[in-house]
Amino acid sequence: MSGADPLLDSLRSAVAASPDDPTLRLHLAGLLLDAGEQQEAVSHVAAVLGRDPGNADAAALMARGLTPQQPPRPPRPEPAPVVGKPSFDWEAAEAEVSDVVAPRFAPDDEPERVPAHAPTGGGRFVVERPDLRLADVGGMDAVKKRLEAAFLAPLRNEELRALYGKSLRGGLLLYGPPGCGKTFFARALAGELGANFLAVGIHDVLDQWAGNSERNMHDVFLAARAAAPCILFFDELDGIAQKRSAVVGGVLRQVITQLLAELDGVSADNEGVFVLAASNMPWDVDPALRRPGRFDRTVLVVPPDGDARRAILEYHLRDRPVENVALKPLVARTEGFSGADLAHLCEAATEHALLDSVATGTVRRITQADLLAAAGELRPSTGPWFTTARQVALYANGDGSYDELAAYMKRRKLL
Ligand SMILES: Nc1ncnc2c1ncn2[C@@H]1O[C@H](COP(=O)(O)OP(=O)(O)O)[C@@H](O)[C@H]1O
Ligand SMILES: [Mg+2]
Repeated sequence: MSGADPLLDSLRSAVAASPDDPTLRLHLAGLLLDAGEQQEAVSHVAAVLGRDPGNADAAALMARGLTPQQPPRPPRPEPAPVVGKPSFDWEAAEAEVSDVVAPRFAPDDEPERVPAHAPTGGGRFVVERPDLRLADVGGMDAVKKRLEAAFLAPLRNEELRALYGKSLRGGLLLYGPPGCGKTFFARALAGELGANFLAVGIHDVLDQWAGNSERNMHDVFLAARAAAPCILFFDELDGIAQKRSAVVGGVLRQVITQLLAELDGVSADNEGVFVLAASNMPWDVDPALRRPGRFDRTVLVVPPDGDARRAILEYHLRDRPVENVALKPLVARTEGFSGADLAHLCEAATEHALLDSVATGTVRRITQADLLAAAGELRPSTGPWFTTARQVALYANGDGSYDELAAYMKRRKLL
């Protein structure tokens, strides 16, 4: 397939070297389409869609690739050969790929920092710099307000920080049914702050060898401190921190003890490290972790209301080729859907339109009918969670930990 275009050839090799990089592949596909290499372009787009059917850029390129072939652009004028110089124009090639490939050398005056999307901490913990903003999070206004008061304002303002002093040290625990945006929100918060983001799950720290799990937990904090300002996010805290009584073997106990020591900053300063956690089952989180100064403040993240569903649908359809979509009936049809359910709905509708386009050979956009059909096939996934939550609100809320949950369920007539 190798053609005369050196830029295409070098991008082809780059794709062969990193076949899982969708950005690179789609960039190549775009250039191939420009060059009239439709078939090869479509094969790259198909590879991306195979891994990520919801990829909107890929869907758009696929639509381009499936339209009747345009006459190829006239070839680039050959640069006049210069004696003693290689004929390949590196500068032009670098300029061409500058939006997908980082420059080879950073400018001298740039402060040293963790590069975006690059693993640090020996490659075991991935520190990223999310592009998301709080504005990308649909709804969740109450959560945003709570965070503004408890977190963002003191972060932005030195005086407030001094005033709050130690109280900022504790972490905040987001809880609620699955798929309602806890993880999404945490990443958006890091993006909003321009901070690094380090997400940790149980598999990142647990190790069968005695002592290794504690060291892993210690390394997590080392990585976060090295990347400060950094949001250190313990996802699914109930997994990391099951009630210790329920655990045989004691590995989890050691991990929790280490986590507590690191949180308390016994041996090191956690300046610039902001700890957030999330859990679908906060009632399974070790009580030691819920004490003051730890994950004592909780924020309930509930399924999106009507306005929020509209915002989430808009967000997930923002780059997709839609036609004449009326959101109001969709919003009405999706009561109880989580953010993840809505994202899934948009993907299912896209897939339907795409498969239809491939089958008929005529490209068409995503219609209201695709979306309504998808909504009809999906059921809200939050039901079982509320069944458990009901028991908790009724029988395990002696200390008022779940007052917010109980009030919400009463309002929704779930209690
Ligand atoms: N408020 C929201 N706005 C936009 N997208 C959302 C929202 N909530 C959830 N989503 C979508 O659902 C996906 C799953 O949400 P996630 O944050 O992983 O849920 P949780 O961590 O609460 O289980 C997200 O990646 C996002 O695509
Ligand atoms: Mg999550």
